[in-house]
Amino acid sequence: MLSQSLPLLALAATALGFPDLPFKTSGSEILTSKDTPIKVAGTNWPGHNDVMVPEGLQYRSIKDIVSDLKSTGMNVVRLTYAIEMIDQLLDEDKSDLQSAFVDALGETEGMAVLRQLLANNPEFSATSSRLDVFDAIVEELNVQEIYVNLDNHISSGEWCCGANDGNTWWGDEHFDADKWVRGLAYMAEHGSSHPLRIPPQPTNTHQGKAWPNLMSMSLRNELREPSNNATLLETYNWQTWYKYMREGAQAVSDANPDPLIILSGLNYDTTLQPVVRGQPLTPGDEVFSFDDFSADKIVFELHNYDTRATNCADITGALYNGGAQAMVPDDETTVNAAPVLITEFGFAQTEYQGVYATCLADWMPDNTAGWMQWVVAGSYYLRSGTPDYDETWALYDHEWQSWRVPEYVEGIFSDSIAATLADNA
Ligand SMILES: *[C@@H]1O[C@H](CO)[C@@H](O)[C@H](O)[C@H]1NC(C)=O
Repeated sequence: MLSQSLPLLALAATALGFPDLPFKTSGSEILTSKDTPIKVAGTNWPGHNDVMVPEGLQYRSIKDIVSDLKSTGMNVVRLTYAIEMIDQLLDEDKSDLQSAFVDALGETEGMAVLRQLLANNPEFSATSSRLDVFDAIVEELNVQEIYVNLDNHISSGEWCCGANDGNTWWGDEHFDADKWVRGLAYMAEHGSSHPLRIPPQPTNTHQGKAWPNLMSMSLRNELREPSNNATLLETYNWQTWYKYMREGAQAVSDANPDPLIILSGLNYDTTLQPVVRGQPLTPGDEVFSFDDFSADKIVFELHNYDTRATNCADITGALYNGGAQAMVPDDETTVNAAPVLITEFGFAQTEYQGVYATCLADWMPDNTAGWMQWVVAGSYYLRSGTPDYDETWALYDHEWQSWRVPEYVEGIFSDSIAATLADNA
């Protein structure tokens, strides 16, 4: 009985139009595998902090969290990870949850938090791997028809981002370019629905698992100027950016040709201006070309945290000039049209009626291909040395039980999701 009903269920899911991957781009639109334009809206679920395990599971089950997310109408989650997670797996054969929590939080606190996680999520054990947790989250998001945008947030597992955290730019203390490329390829392959292309490493017993709802992979979050390394600063420019973006994109598409590839800009991902305007990628004179990447896969991302702005036009103007004009092919200065996602914006939840929050909620549905709010996490296992850190910017309250400010999540936030997704088939 069961074996007969499963194919029928699969068929039903196909008919309903999820996931309809792989996506591709056409001008400023993202298209599904059925050539239908699609937009995405959702939130960020961090998995890149010190423990390098997606947050919140000491308080709730994966299924309950995803169900809450689904209740807002969202259709995407930006799931973040640190390259160090892959380094530990491949170089030290270390990925188990017990080490993850004890290394970050110490023996007593780490074991206590792990016990809470296992009580809420009994499908795992102390020897489960970090990737088992990522797999289970992706699987539940897939069951509830939510896409995954997998984001390499940082190299060393910790809170991001500062000018002297050693993760600013290729060659920084913790930002090894080769390990970054290896990590991108590893995750691309891990999420692939294709047969393995990268031979499994001898130390890696995790066989990988297809992520059917993997929409996109973001190459690197918030590139920025280092404040503590003059030598490194010499290479902080568009020319270097282009070299590594091509290398990272190639690594992803060689390992898995399906996901959209998301390119993030300079200055904490606030500008892609010369890329979009086809201006020289200085100090060289080469210009950006989609021909240097897999066909029809490139999407741009921008962040905005101009939370103190008192004028909406200042916020949207900065976004437009920073690269959101790629959504407007008719603008004569737009040379490289592409879909633009606002993959981070956020504010202390009590400020949800302010200019910043309401401005973006109104503007993003019509002027972007989608967006992801920062952040769902009501608290972090550990942030910047503080255990059980309370996140005042989060959709959730501290213990991930209820919305921190329900008036926001059930009001402006859900309304903006609905407006963004209104034209999806
Ligand atoms: C500064 O950057 C250079 C170039 O990447 C690197 O070789 C050097 O180790 C860095 N110095 C420090 C202190 O991180």
